[in-house]
Amino acid sequence: MITAKTIAEVRQAVAAARKQGQVIGLVPTMGALHEGHMSLVDAARRQCGFVGVSIFVNPTQFGPDEDLSKYPRPLENDLALCQAHGVDLVFVPEVKEMYSCGGTGFQPVPKGTGYKPVPPQKVAEMYPPGSLTRIHVDRLTEGLCGASRPGHFDGVCTVVAKLFNIFQPDAAYFGQKDYQQAAVIRRMTADLDLPLRIEVCPTVRENDALAMSSRNAYLGREERQQAAALSESLRLAADLVGQGRRAAQELKAAMREHLARRAPLGRIEYIEIVDPDRLTPLQEVEAPAVAALAVKFPSARLIDNMTLRP
Ligand code: PAJ
Repeated sequence: MITAKTIAEVRQAVAAARKQGQVIGLVPTMGALHEGHMSLVDAARRQCGFVGVSIFVNPTQFGPDEDLSKYPRPLENDLALCQAHGVDLVFVPEVKEMYSCGGTGFQPVPKGTGYKPVPPQKVAEMYPPGSLTRIHVDRLTEGLCGASRPGHFDGVCTVVAKLFNIFQPDAAYFGQKDYQQAAVIRRMTADLDLPLRIEVCPTVRENDALAMSSRNAYLGREERQQAAALSESLRLAADLVGQGRRAAQELKAAMREHLARRAPLGRIEYIEIVDPDRLTPLQEVEAPAVAALAVKFPSARLIDNMTLRP
């Protein structure tokens, strides 16, 4: 397994794999890897000859009051997990590699072209520190998590687009756990004609059905017990729809009530029932819909979602 810190190293390894005719798969992550992440790696492993994982705690997707500095970074453990799951390359860039105008990833210049690249030091002088370009997807980013995390999805889209350009994968793997993120990335990929397939894999859960998340590690004992209420309330909504209930108001009220009773430490940020593609709120569940929620516990903000099928 290659551990690459620079864009140039990634490009070189991917080019070599491609030359051998291999299909390239990418799993973007922020590390603190768990079984949810590894299910994406395993899906990539089944479909691709070369599997890359990126581990980068992306500062541009964190708000000023969010957990950027305390986000867990157990790198040794992450690398061991990747190795055990047959990953070919792990990309672990530093922030300056990703956000200082091309990092150190300058392309070798073909001989005999007469082209003289600008040396990296000169580039650093020419441009202010940090990149100035952001990708924004409209509408899909307004509701749900976007409402309380302004700029979050711009940060996600920008870093994911950069990773797509760095790896140029045939397929990239995302989790249904972050439903809105997957929808936004799908849309960005289509809108920008990015030449790859987006694969979305099912949410992996703990024994009590809590969705696995790197942020679960922040939870105290009592919070952890109450956190199961997120998936329980989604399950409740799915069951009610199965019994023929259709009104979103009624379903949301039932979820709210369950959470209030079962998770008193959690403050509900949103509970929504949305169209699976447009992410707009629905009044009635007449076709498959997505119930999504965010709950803020004292030590962590948790999200989860489930498809409701009438
Ligand atoms: P991170 O939270 O590390 O998640 C990386 C990928 O793992 C995402 O696609 C996420 O949906 C998926 N994932 C997380 N928990 C999962 C679970 N329990 N079951 C299945 N998949 C799960 O999402 C990010 O990082 C970042 O925003 C990123 C896309 C890497 C951009 O910085």
